[in-house]
Amino acid sequence: MNNCKVLAHRGASAYAPENTMEAFRLAVEQGADGFEIDINLSKDGEIVVIHDDSIDRTSDGQGDITSYTLEELKAFNFNKGFAEKYTTARIPTLREVLELVKEHGLYLNIEVKDILSKMELYAGLPGAAAQLVREYGLTEQVIFSSFNHYSMVRLKNEYPEMKTGLLYIAGLYQGAEYAKLTKADALHPVFFGVNREAVDEARAAGVQVNAWTVNEPEHIGWMLAAGVDAIITDRPDVCIGLRG
Ligand code: G3P
Ligand code: MG
Repeated sequence: MNNCKVLAHRGASAYAPENTMEAFRLAVEQGADGFEIDINLSKDGEIVVIHDDSIDRTSDGQGDITSYTLEELKAFNFNKGFAEKYTTARIPTLREVLELVKEHGLYLNIEVKDILSKMELYAGLPGAAAQLVREYGLTEQVIFSSFNHYSMVRLKNEYPEMKTGLLYIAGLYQGAEYAKLTKADALHPVFFGVNREAVDEARAAGVQVNAWTVNEPEHIGWMLAAGVDAIITDRPDVCIGLRG
């Protein structure tokens, strides 16, 4: 059996509303090793699990995430696209997700949505999340990631025990060396930028490769053959079926 981990992208988001407890519980039922989530900040500084910086696409409300308190956000229904099966779905806090991760002994990839142009706005986000991970004793099971590599370097400098991953699109020249330079534990490439050579080079340098977002059986096969450490997928059931 291939020992590649299967991480459900925003939960089992092909079948349940993304980034909700419903999608995370379904991923657990399907046998996923863990999941990937996106975090953001509410108006009152609570860490909430949502991909976009507005609630328009995924809820029955409208507006920027930072314009609502947690209590206000909890009143919206985040079941968009899945209303027949899931009549209600609330926005989760990071704390709720960490509780589920702890209960089931799962892996968790926390993607911080702190893009570089808004880095100061989100300056406190990675550190606050790291403190919660510490509080729950989940340092070994959690890896942070961001497209903002400055943010991951800062997190590693402030919380050296936290694992960090560098998100990127397309191939990265001398990726393993770049990971070392930025003190990252993992590379998080889009799947079509991955091949066996890149994975071997990373592994030789002690750097993991976690590929996203891999949904089609053919592409899942490519990643298993390339030997990646984890596959991030909307369809954990399909991925597990192929991995064994
Ligand atoms: O972490 C992998 C993947 O989630 C990155 O892109 O936009 O789906 O958050 P996105
Ligand atoms: Mg993400």
